[in-house]
Amino acid sequence: MNPVPTLEWTGDSLRLLDQRLLPGTEAFIECRDVETLACAIRTLAVRGAPAIGLAAAYGAVIAAIVTPPGSGFREGCRRLMRVLEATRPTAVNLFHCLASQERVLSAAENRAAAISGLLENARRLHDQDLAASAAMGRHGAALLPPDCAVLTHCNAGGLATGGLGTALAVIYEAHARGILREVYADETRPLLQGARLTAWEMVRAGIPVTVIPDSAAASLLASGRVNVVVVGADRIALNGDTANKIGTFSVALAARDAGVPFYVAAPVSTFDFATPDGSGIVIENRSAGEVARLGDTVTLASGAEVWNPAFDVTPAGLITGIICEHGVVSSPAETLRTQVDSGS
Ligand code: MRU
Repeated sequence: MNPVPTLEWTGDSLRLLDQRLLPGTEAFIECRDVETLACAIRTLAVRGAPAIGLAAAYGAVIAAIVTPPGSGFREGCRRLMRVLEATRPTAVNLFHCLASQERVLSAAENRAAAISGLLENARRLHDQDLAASAAMGRHGAALLPPDCAVLTHCNAGGLATGGLGTALAVIYEAHARGILREVYADETRPLLQGARLTAWEMVRAGIPVTVIPDSAAASLLASGRVNVVVVGADRIALNGDTANKIGTFSVALAARDAGVPFYVAAPVSTFDFATPDGSGIVIENRSAGEVARLGDTVTLASGAEVWNPAFDVTPAGLITGIICEHGVVSSPAETLRTQVDSGS
C-alpha cells in the first residue's frame, strides 16, 4: 500500500496534508513555526492519535530551530513544546512523543546537537510508527475470515498515523490477501472523519466502501452483513478501557448484542500504562459550533445547548482483542506481564 502523505519533514519545515479540506481538495500546509503547527493540530488539519504525536515530535524540531542560541535555549524550546502539549488532551501519543523529545533535548550538549538529535528522534518515531502499522496489518488480517465485511468508525488510517494506519492497516492487509469483500464506514458525526477521510482512503486504495450514518451501525450489525468491527484508539488505559472517537462505545455495544467481534487496533505508543482504567482518561470537549452548523447552514434551534465530547471510552469487557505491533492482547497490562515473564 502506498503510504498517505500525511506528514513529511521537508528539510526546514513540516508539510501536512490539510485534512480539513479532504475529500474535495488535496492541499498542504507548511509549518515553520510552532503556532502554525499548534493551530493545525487544534483545528484537525492533522489528526488521529499517532499522527498528532508525530507532528508534535517534528514540532519539537521546529521549536529548536526557531529558538535563538544562548543560555535560555532549552527553556525557550520547552515553552514552545508546552504549547504543542496543550493542543489536545486525549490522544496519549502526543504526550509520549513530546516526553521522548524532552529526553533528547535534555541530553543534547548544545543547540546544534539538539536540532539534529530531535530530528533524528522524530524520524525514528515516524519509522517506528510505519513498522507498527505493517505489523498490526499482519496480526489483524490473520483474525479475519475469507470474504470478510468490516465495519470501522472514524478514521484510523494513513491519515491518522505516519502514513499506513491502525484499523485501516488491517483492512489494507486483508485486501492485499484477497480476503476482504467490503468496508462499511460510519460517517462519524460531527466532523465526518468516516465519510470524508476513511472513504477517501478506501477509494484511493480501490477498496469497496459504503458510508452509513452513525445511527445505522446497530441495524447493520444486527443484519448479519458485517463479520467484524475494527476501530482505532486515542488512549488505552492499563486495563484495556479504550478512548476513541465519540460513537465507538455505541458500536461496541451493538457489536456485543449482535455477536460480532469488536477489535481495537493501536500501537503501543497509544497505550497509557500510567492510567489504571478509563475513568482517568481526559475526554476533550469541542466547540458547540461543530454540532450547530453543517457547512455554512445553522442546524441547531436557537436557544438549544450543545454537548460535544470528541471521544468516549469503551469498557475493556466489550473489546474482543487489541491488535498491536506485538500481536493481539487483552490489555496494555498483558503486554507488561508478557515482558516480565520473558525477562525483557
Ligand atoms: O478527533 P480525531 O479525528 O483526532 O479522532 C481520531 C480518532 O478517534 C481515531 O479513531 C484514533 O485517533 C485512531 S488513529 C489511528
